[in-house]
Amino acid sequence: MIYSRITGTGSYLPEQVLTNHDLEKIVETSDEWIRERTGIGQRHVVGPEETTCDLAEQAARSALAAAGRRPEDIDLIIVGTTTPDQVFPSTACLLQQRLGVHNGCAAFDVQAVCTGFVYALGVANQFIRAGSARCALVVGAETISRILDWNDRGTCVLFGDGAGAVVLEASETPGILSTHLHADGRYESLLSVPRGIGKGYAQMVAGEAYLQMKGNEVFKWAVNTLGRIVEETLEANGIEQSQVDWLIPHQANIRIIQATARKLKMPMEKVIVTVEQHGNTSAASVPLALDAAVRDGRIKRGDLVLMEAFGGGFTWGSALLHF
Ligand code: COA
Repeated sequence: MIYSRITGTGSYLPEQVLTNHDLEKIVETSDEWIRERTGIGQRHVVGPEETTCDLAEQAARSALAAAGRRPEDIDLIIVGTTTPDQVFPSTACLLQQRLGVHNGCAAFDVQAVCTGFVYALGVANQFIRAGSARCALVVGAETISRILDWNDRGTCVLFGDGAGAVVLEASETPGILSTHLHADGRYESLLSVPRGIGKGYAQMVAGEAYLQMKGNEVFKWAVNTLGRIVEETLEANGIEQSQVDWLIPHQANIRIIQATARKLKMPMEKVIVTVEQHGNTSAASVPLALDAAVRDGRIKRGDLVLMEAFGGGFTWGSALLHF
């Protein structure tokens, strides 16, 4: 039996920081409102020349170093992103070029918005378990600041840019115990960027492709769905919530995270929370939180970790793994 196991983690946040007080100068909002409703204190945003691939490269190099691997060891690259550098080549192919991986390995993007990393991890796990890859680079990277309407206080205060990455390798012992990926395309109207090649292309070219969201409806959906996916994951593996060492939730909003933890009867000390420092970084959020907790020594080898995410689509998913 072949399993897949994370052998290294990395992450990267762009240098420029936008605090809640900075946002008070852009839209009618307050530090107090943002902290109380979301738990966010600041977010990082890219500079004019920086792209998703730049962030992905930094996170990937850091994960490779942690795993003790070189670019030529990689035989699969998957990037979860909703903000690719360009329509094509995929960000994964651009990253392959940047890293100097010239062995012809498969490289592709997965677009599942905030669930992008969990989707990418699920796909890489299948490749490894099927014997089609042995050393995968799995990245979640976003420049969401580029698709925000900076006049809309209901959305622009929530998001930030960043990247997280893991090296996932074939192993005789788990590793990943299970992944669960879901989608329901009926909820387009609640969370979307309704621009693209087929619709509103002119606006996209003019840089007016903005994220639109019915925040309080998404909130309710996220809380219910994340509670369900966590139950599904525990049931599929025949384990109790008390056996889980760490919950790594999608870092969208502290209130959504707390509600999921309450449903799971999980004390907040076992929940990794980084949303205060970088807001919702979409596909980057789970691997950013994972890397933070690995580097500060909380998550140790062998710990049982439950990741969960929810995003536009709607998409949602989870992964249960021994780190
Ligand atoms: N600053 C100050 N006031 C704001 C504001 C801001 N940044 N954004 C909205 N408001 C106002 C609204 O205009 C509204 O004012 P009104 O009552 O005068 O109309 C009031 O605050 C309440 O708005 P509401 O949308 O009901 O607030 P909320 O408690 O639902 O919080 C969100 C809004 C966006 C923080 C919350 O709905 C949320 O987090 N939703 C989930 C979003 C998310 O995580 N999406 C990504 C999922 S992957």
